[in-house]
Amino acid sequence: MSAKSESKKVLVIHGPNLNLLGKREPGIYGHQSLDEINEQLIERGRKLGIEVVTFQSNHEGVIVEEIQAGIGEFQGIIINPAAYTHTSVAIRDALVMVDVPIVEIHLSNINKRESFRHVSMIADIVTARIAGFGSQGYLLALEGLNGMIRGVDQN
Ligand code: DQA
Repeated sequence: MSAKSESKKVLVIHGPNLNLLGKREPGIYGHQSLDEINEQLIERGRKLGIEVVTFQSNHEGVIVEEIQAGIGEFQGIIINPAAYTHTSVAIRDALVMVDVPIVEIHLSNINKRESFRHVSMIADIVTARIAGFGSQGYLLALEGLNGMIRGVDQN
């Protein structure tokens, strides 16, 4: 099997309060539940030859442990750290140790919102960022990551 056709694994990490998507401020975060988003990601991954593993936690340390446990197992990470985006040095430090492409994703355009959301602790260490596309952003992230992992020229 060539490197390009080989099956790949991507870890998708959802931070705090994203378990309530669909019910939580739908005007900002949309009507889709996290389960629906995860199902779409897994389905799209299947078409791309990527095994998508999804994970959600409301706890910072648990997210750090998940990132650590995934080292060497995944070829890419998609992460929406939610509120921890703006505060977590611990998540940043864990992501720095990971030697695979990382996509930061937000449902909302965080730069269009309150000023405390304009700061991302991981913006300068991730490979790419997506914000403001709602749940569609996750699929865009997976498509982009697929190209990166398989060495498709992005320029
Ligand atoms: C979010 C934006 C964050 O500011 C917020 O705390 C979230 C979700 C987003 O996806 O738009 O929980 O990451």
